Formats: sequence, C-alpha cells, structure tokens
Amino acid sequence: MGKKILLDKINIPGIKTYQVYRDNGGYAAVEKALTMDPDAITEEVKTSGLRGRGGAGFPTGLKWSFLDKKSGKPRHLVCNADESEPGTFKDRYLMEHIPHLLIEGMIVSSFALGANSSYIYIRGEYMWVFKILERAIKEAYEAGWLGKNIKGSGYNLDLYVHCGAGAYICGEETALLESLEGKRGNPRMKPPFPAVSGLWGNPTVVNNVESIASVPWIVLNSGEEYAKIGNGRSTGTKLISASGHCRKPGVYEIELGLTVDEFMNSDEYLGGMMDGRPLKAIVPGGSSVPILPQHLIFKTAEGTDRLMTYESLADGGFATGSALGSGGFIVYNDTACIVRNTWNFARFYAHESCGQCSPCREGTGWLEKVLHRIEIGLGREEDIELLWSIQSKIEGNTICPLGDAAAWPVAAAIRHFRDEFEYHIRFPEKIKNRNHFVDEP
Ligand code: NAI
Ligand code: SF4
Repeated sequence: MGKKILLDKINIPGIKTYQVYRDNGGYAAVEKALTMDPDAITEEVKTSGLRGRGGAGFPTGLKWSFLDKKSGKPRHLVCNADESEPGTFKDRYLMEHIPHLLIEGMIVSSFALGANSSYIYIRGEYMWVFKILERAIKEAYEAGWLGKNIKGSGYNLDLYVHCGAGAYICGEETALLESLEGKRGNPRMKPPFPAVSGLWGNPTVVNNVESIASVPWIVLNSGEEYAKIGNGRSTGTKLISASGHCRKPGVYEIELGLTVDEFMNSDEYLGGMMDGRPLKAIVPGGSSVPILPQHLIFKTAEGTDRLMTYESLADGGFATGSALGSGGFIVYNDTACIVRNTWNFARFYAHESCGQCSPCREGTGWLEKVLHRIEIGLGREEDIELLWSIQSKIEGNTICPLGDAAAWPVAAAIRHFRDEFEYHIRFPEKIKNRNHFVDEP
C-alpha cells in the first residue's frame, strides 16, 4: 500500500464533523504551528519540496517566500477551490469528505504568511460542498480555532468561503481575485504576481486545496520527512482523479514516482481496462495537457518506465510527453474517437474563453468550428493544416494559460492521431451514420 497523508483518515465514520476529526488528531498541526516562528513554517514547506497541486507544480514554499512582507499592507491567503478542469474532481472529494483538513491547512498556512483574513473560493457547481465547508468553518469558530486570539496565541484569523458563479476562467488565479473583489473574472497581466499585488492590491498567496491540505502533515512531521516520499523533485503524494474506460475510476492518493503501469493495472489503483478492451490513449493531467497514445503511456520516448511525476510525464516535452497537471487521469479504450474528444475539449475552451485577447477569443472559436465540421463528416483536406496553424498562433500569445490549454490538446491529437482526422475527412459516409448528439451546422 502506498503512503497516505491526505486520505489516510477518509474512511473514519463521521470524519466530516469537527469532534471526530479532532478526536483523530485533527488541529494538532495548528497547536504546533502556533508555537513556531512563522518563517520557520515557510522553511519547512520549502524543505518539503511541495509543488502546487492545482496543475502548474510551482514550488509552494518558494511562492510563500515571494510574499511581500515589507509593504505593511494586509496579507491574504486565498485557496483556489475553483476546480473546473475537465477530468479533475480530487479537491471536491477532499473537501466533501474531510473539510477540516483544508481548514486546518488554511489556519497553519495563514499563520505562516501573517494573514488575518483568508478566503476559500469554491466553484459555483460545488454548492453542496460549499455548504459542507460553511458548516465546518462554523464548527472551527465555535471550537476556538478561528476568530480572535486563537487558543490564547494572540493570532487572529477570519476565514471566508466564497462561491463562484460557474466560470472556468475564475480558476485562473488573477481572474479568481477579480471575481472575489466583485468584478467580472478577467485575468490580469502578470507581473505583478499576486504575491506582490493580489486581492485588493494586497500581497496574496493563492494555493490549491490539495497543496494547503498537505501543509498540516508537513508541520507535524517536518519538511524533510515529506521530501523522503516521492521521486526526485516530485516529492510527496498526489491525488489523482481517474475517469474513463478503466475498471475502477475514482480518487486515489499515490506516492509520486509510482509507475504509470502500476497505477493503470494494479488492483490497488485502476485495476486495468473496463471490459478488458484495449487501451488506446490517456490524458494524464486534465484536459489542458497533451494526450498520450498507447505506445507512449508506459514508456517514455527514451524507453524508460513512465512515472507518475512532474518530470517523467513531461519527458521529451509536449512532442512525446504530457504533464502531471491537475491529476485528472482520463483513460480511453479502442472505441473512443479522438477527433470527437478533441472537438469536445475545444468546445469547452471556446465557451469558457473570457474574450479579452484576440488569439484566444478568435482562435478557440475557430478550433471548435473546424473540429466540429471534421467530426460530423464535413471536413476538408486542408483542415488539418488549418487546425495546426490556428493552435500554433494561440500558444504563447495570450494573457493567461487558457489559450495554451486550448491549443495543446489539438496539437497533440493531430501529432499522435493524424490518421483519425484523415479518416474523418476522407470517409465522411462512414462516420456520418454515428449517433451524434448535435445538429449539423
Ligand atoms: P503559472 O505557472 O503561471 O503559475 C504558477 C504559480 O506560481 C502562480 O500562483 C504564480 O503566481 C506563481 N508564480 C510564478 N512565477 C512567479 C514569480 N516570478 N513570482 C511570484 N509568483 C510566481 O500557472 P497557473 O496559471 O497558476 O496554472 C496553470 C495550470 O493550472 C495549468 O498548467 C493547468 O494544468 C492548471 N489548471 C488547473 C485547473 C483545475 O481545475 N485544477 C483548471 C485549469 C488549469
Ligand atoms: Fe481571456 Fe483567453 Fe485571454 Fe485568458 S487567454 S485572458 S481566457 S481571452
């Protein structure tokens, strides 16, 4: 059994409630943290090697150390719970089943950063989880872990949970801050990074749910112990949400460094393919990262074992690799149509683009239109080159990563499954009879 530090208590009956959580060692990290120098906590997080679990993998301790503490302005910690990446549902699972772990992480992290008002921004579709968090926060206030002079330490913290309104773009950290300020969720130009100018212009750290929930363990057990788990620069454990044609979809906590083969095929994890059909492809890190065809799933382009790490999944760059991303692991069997899947993703990004910058606003719309006509059997020979050209003009030319996220899946699908695009274009009569759920344009 792999080591569990986030989900180890998830099956304890009643762990969602304060008393059961507390009876099982909950809030011990806050007790310890309040006796520590805040900067020493940041050092522990740095030593742990913990990297941002939202998808970017930026070192958490380093981000904390960028926080401007000299300006004298109030500082904030904002938890990004706007989990919206297609294929990703691990933060929801954690908040739904063990909400006090996130609250404990928020208190310890806010103390380390010197923040007295912190926020959890949760996606609008997670309304029932919002209510679970609100109840848990109320319990934490009542037990004296939030509010004024927490446990006689002199430290004050107010924690708010704020519900989004259903826009994917509000998961981009600066759009999230705009939205939290009551404005339309348009991403801001960076720099300045939120660490310098974030919420209300104040220094702000924005961290993912899973990152923050990992901090209590680090405080209790030390950064050094955390760094012993994992592989190389991919330290610790990671939540993976698995979906698609595997035998056992769900949320798993893995030790980083596990082989993709073991994750896919062992009974402890996905247990192989549903109905025993052949594996065709995977998307290992949510819809924004490149799809991997069968021959690149278990071995890298160099022939080494593919590992569940930031480095190994990206081995060879996006030409032959992918990314760990948000851990949204989607499995496709031989019946899956890659063209249709790519169009589906493109439709999503076109819908969610905020429209601020032209390459993304126009480009995502064109990707969606061209992919749609190929998918329904109206594609033209030149459409594959057209798609390639559109995606290449979006990548790297936009304000926020949504543009890249829309471009990469298209590039990877063409690179690895060009024959499927050609088949759609050359034999439209063979695909036209399929059961489409959309009307032809
Ligand atoms: P990013 O790489 O731009 O930034 C990562 C973090 O590091 C940010 O918090 C940024 O402020 C900070 N940072 C980077 N350089 C810095 C510097 N010099 N000074 C101070 N802070 C610095 O990536 P971003 O936009 O945060 O995330 C993109 C990723 O998010 C994508 O790769 C995708 O995998 C993932 N994603 C996840 C979703 C989910 O639902 N979990 C949804 C959409 C995307
Ligand atoms: Fe908006 Fe797209 Fe530009 Fe991001 S890349 S700011 S989503 S238009």
